[in-house]
Amino acid sequence: NANQFVNVKVIDRDQKPIDAKAKVGSNMLDVILDNKIDIDGFGACEGTLACSTCHVILDSENYKTLPEPVEEENDMLDLAFGLTPTSRLACQIIVEPRMKDWVFVVPKDVNDQR
Ligand code: FES
Repeated sequence: NANQFVNVKVIDRDQKPIDAKAKVGSNMLDVILDNKIDIDGFGACEGTLACSTCHVILDSENYKTLPEPVEEENDMLDLAFGLTPTSRLACQIIVEPRMKDWVFVVPKDVNDQR
């Protein structure tokens, strides 16, 4: 169902939790933009895997269930501010119905590599 939404939570740079409606099939960068969640410097390359500003941190249970990152994502993640073992790039996370109540933590800062 293309018009299906799941409720997720985004924790912004000030550690403020924000509820978001995530459209199934879209990516988490678009979800953050569509929900008008204002995060400074986020998504600078508009999802083209040319920056690491859309870095988000997942909890390890959820992280484990995601498809493996492609090599380009790993290369970008290596440059991200505050990289963790459960870090991903939001523009590469495709929303699925099972992601209901997932939490995406935006780190305190960014490194824009462009
Ligand atoms: Fe630049 Fe995701 S928005 S890599």
